[in-house]
Amino acid sequence: MRTVLITGAGHGIGAACARMFAAAGDDVVVSDIDTAAAVAIAEEIRAAGGSATGNFLDVSDPAAWQALSRELRCAARLPTVIVNNAFFDVAGVAHEQSEDNWSKQLSVTLSSVYRAMHTFHDTLTAAHGNMVNVSSVHGVLAWTEQPAYAAAKGGLISLTRQLSVDYAPHVRVNVVLPGSIQTRQWDHQGAAELELAARQATLQRLGTPEEVASVIQFLAGDGASYITGASLLVDGGMTTTLGA
Ligand SMILES: NC(=O)c1ccc[n+]([C@@H]2O[C@H](COP(=O)([O-])OP(=O)(O)OC[C@H]3O[C@@H](n4cnc5c(N)ncnc54)[C@H](O)[C@@H]3O)[C@@H](O)[C@H]2O)c1
Repeated sequence: MRTVLITGAGHGIGAACARMFAAAGDDVVVSDIDTAAAVAIAEEIRAAGGSATGNFLDVSDPAAWQALSRELRCAARLPTVIVNNAFFDVAGVAHEQSEDNWSKQLSVTLSSVYRAMHTFHDTLTAAHGNMVNVSSVHGVLAWTEQPAYAAAKGGLISLTRQLSVDYAPHVRVNVVLPGSIQTRQWDHQGAAELELAARQATLQRLGTPEEVASVIQFLAGDGASYITGASLLVDGGMTTTLGA
C-alpha cells in the first residue's frame, strides 16, 4: 500500500484528492494547517473503509515538516507520493503588500515544495515515487492584484521542471494548472464573476475538485510512468481562448 501525503487536504481540491487516492487503496496522510478539517476528511475516509490520518502541517514551517516526518517514520508510513496543494494568497498590487505578506505567500505556495523534497527525498527516491504540484493557470497568465500568487504559481512550473531533472530517474515530478474550480475559493464571488469564469472556459463551466483530483491521481499512478517534468492544464479550455 502506498502512503500518499497531500498538503492542504482539509478542503477543496486537496480533500478530493484524499478521498480519491484512498478509494483506490492508498494510505493517505491528510495534512492541513486546519487540523480539524484534515481530521474530519480522514475520519470520513476510514468510515468508508479506507486508510487515512488527519495531520497538522503548516507547509511554511520547516519544524512542522520535521515533526510530521518523525511521526510518519515512527509509524513506518513512508510517503512515496506527495501532492503539494496548499496555498496562501493576499490580494493587492505589489506596493500594497507588506514584506511579511509577500514572504508568507511565497513560503506557503512555492517554498513548501522545496520543503517537501527536502524532507522526503529519501522515501520518494527509494520507492521510485513521485510528486505532483498544484500550480494554476495564473502561472502562465496574469489577472489583477495577485503578484505573489502569480510569482509562486509560475515558480512552481519551473521548480517542477528542475526537480524532475535533479531527481531523475528515480522520482517523477509533474505539475497541474487548474483553471476555475468550484471550491470555497469561489464562495464569495457574485453571480457575474461566476458567469464570467464559466464563459472563459471553452467547456462553459467551472471545473469540480474531482476533475482536478482525477488528473493528479493519474499523474501519480503507473499509467503516467513515462511522464515527468510535465505541466498539465486542467482548465476546461480557458487558456485556449480566454474568451469572455
Ligand atoms: N479553486 C480554483 O479555482 C483554483 C484555480 C487554480 C489553482 N487552484 C489551486 O488549487 C489548490 C487548492 O485550492 P482550493 O481551491 O482547493 O482551495 P481551498 O481553500 O479549498 O483549499 C486550500 C487548503 O490549503 C490549506 N492551507 C492554507 N494554508 C496552509 C498552510 N500554510 N499549510 C497547509 N495547508 C494550508 C487550507 O486550510 C485549505 O484546506 C491551490 O494550490 C490553488 O492555488 C485553485
